[in-house]
Amino acid sequence: MCGIVGVCYSSGSAEHALIAGLRSLEYRGYDSAGVALHAEGMPRRRAEGRVDDLVAVIDRDPLPEARIGIAHTRWATHGVPAERNAHPHRFDRVTLVHNGILENHDAMRTLVENELRTNGSTWSSETDSEVWAALLRVELGNASENPTVDDMLGAISRAMLRARGSYALAILHDAIPDRVFFARHESPLVVGIGESGNFVASDVAALLEETRDFVYLQDGQCGFVTSDECAIFDETLQPIELPIDTIEWDAESAEKGGYPHFMLKEIEEQPHVVGRTLQASIGSGNQILPDFAIPDEELARYGRIIILACGTALHAARLGKYLLEEAAGIPVTVDFASEFRYRSPMVGQNDLILAISQSGETADTLGAYRVAIDKGARPIAICNVRGSSLCRLSNATILTQCGPEIGVASTKAFTGQLLAIHLLALRLGRARGTLDDRAVEARLGQLRIARHAMEQLVGGAARDHVARIATQFAHKPIYFFLGRGPDYPIALEGALKLKEISYVHAEGYPAGEMKHGPLALVSKDMVCVVLCGDSPTYEKVLGNMQEVKTRGGTVVAITNEDKSEAISMADEVIFVPKTDAFVAPLLSVIPLQYLAYFVALERGCDIDKPRNLAKSVTVE
Ligand code: F6R
Repeated sequence: MCGIVGVCYSSGSAEHALIAGLRSLEYRGYDSAGVALHAEGMPRRRAEGRVDDLVAVIDRDPLPEARIGIAHTRWATHGVPAERNAHPHRFDRVTLVHNGILENHDAMRTLVENELRTNGSTWSSETDSEVWAALLRVELGNASENPTVDDMLGAISRAMLRARGSYALAILHDAIPDRVFFARHESPLVVGIGESGNFVASDVAALLEETRDFVYLQDGQCGFVTSDECAIFDETLQPIELPIDTIEWDAESAEKGGYPHFMLKEIEEQPHVVGRTLQASIGSGNQILPDFAIPDEELARYGRIIILACGTALHAARLGKYLLEEAAGIPVTVDFASEFRYRSPMVGQNDLILAISQSGETADTLGAYRVAIDKGARPIAICNVRGSSLCRLSNATILTQCGPEIGVASTKAFTGQLLAIHLLALRLGRARGTLDDRAVEARLGQLRIARHAMEQLVGGAARDHVARIATQFAHKPIYFFLGRGPDYPIALEGALKLKEISYVHAEGYPAGEMKHGPLALVSKDMVCVVLCGDSPTYEKVLGNMQEVKTRGGTVVAITNEDKSEAISMADEVIFVPKTDAFVAPLLSVIPLQYLAYFVALERGCDIDKPRNLAKSVTVE
């Protein structure tokens, strides 16, 4: 959903850091990219398309050396993907990059036209972001030619009062050559404090080559960075001090490390993610989630958990319903965050509200979470990004230890979320007396077994086997993924992965529901991927598989070596190690991720940057 970066070096050229930052932020959108440097005439270069296209433009028309600049990678909302709509936008002497949506852009456009006595010809783009630049020009008033730093801050804070919607802004003014101004509301923005200078960006991954020390800005804050100073102000322009957080992620964790795609790297990191999250979450004496900030006595008194999430995180939530209800005996409801917030949800003080999000910045999830918090529910979260908006809204957070997830298709974040839910279920089960210490220990043992079993599913022969099946079926037009119980959310996730990166129509379905309609779709053109490992419903799933086979469908079974009936019925079999039914989804999702990856590869799709999508969906 657009990525922004701003660099203020003490010496040297900012261009490399800006382009490197954009490459790390490209997962947020790749419709156009642009850069502006604080040099004579505020030179900028912009290109429709990817960062590589921008680099080609700069190669043809090099930029002068400058130590300060801003840059942007765009996921188009207002205005088609085109160079004229690419950021940075410039109005008079203000140049800026913007992530978010100026919801009242029409009213603000009219205001600008009236105040400056101009007309529609003032505008050079169709974007709401250009209006932001113009609004700052209006708010600068008579000072617009040669403002002081205080004039700029005043203009930014007044513009923030007029603007509706979400924004993270990095702003340059022609007359103030030594700093990048910034402002944020509902779109993520971090300040990086480095030895060679100071920085702003949409997320920390963009700045890992420069620093690991970050300040997480909050809604309503604005300020500036120079090469040796960072100043942050609240809505009333009172200076505020925010803590500096040193993160563990390093620059390599945001690079491909020899893999052709981030997605493949991230699939194969999953055993380590589970290992790291387990290690970070178990204290001495098998204390589960020792840093979770809500005491057991309080956890025990809630009557219900409501889980909110979107996309892949929602599938983790759906599996969470099985895990939490089984282990902790507490009713769980799961809701699309985007639906929850626009009805009149029945939620209150008796509820724990659990939001699950990799980025912690998904607008729908945050919006729904705020609704539940306002109604008195106790907010807890599972999140991968420390300092994110979600973490700040939460009373207690389980941080997944995935490292930066860059591939647009979420993989390792999903397994991190599943593991976090397992741990929450154990903690709650113990608090509520549904699990004693022995039961907790036995389940932790199962999770450790699963973590080692995951090693057998990544790389080598396991990967090659799925690649061969994917190649065989890559041009089939329709896929169904079927499962029952805890396998059903995995079926949903398998279908989502396939459709988002290979553009093949795929549906996840509860296997038992096929006969209530979708069976009519079965033909020789359909591939049915059936999850049929150890579970109480194994025999029922066999029946569902038979129904597909007898109607001419092709069946790929995900099962273990003991399941001779499934093996003999299927056209192709992908084996997963035999484990406890509740931890099995941690394993069975891996071949489904590979399947999507290799089908997309065979079809020539852009795996890390699927069309029309972006990671971290910070607009509604
Ligand atoms: C799918 C995918 C999306 C995200 C969804 C929520 O592969 O990545 O469906 O899962 O946009 O994102 P987060 O988890 O950041 O809230």
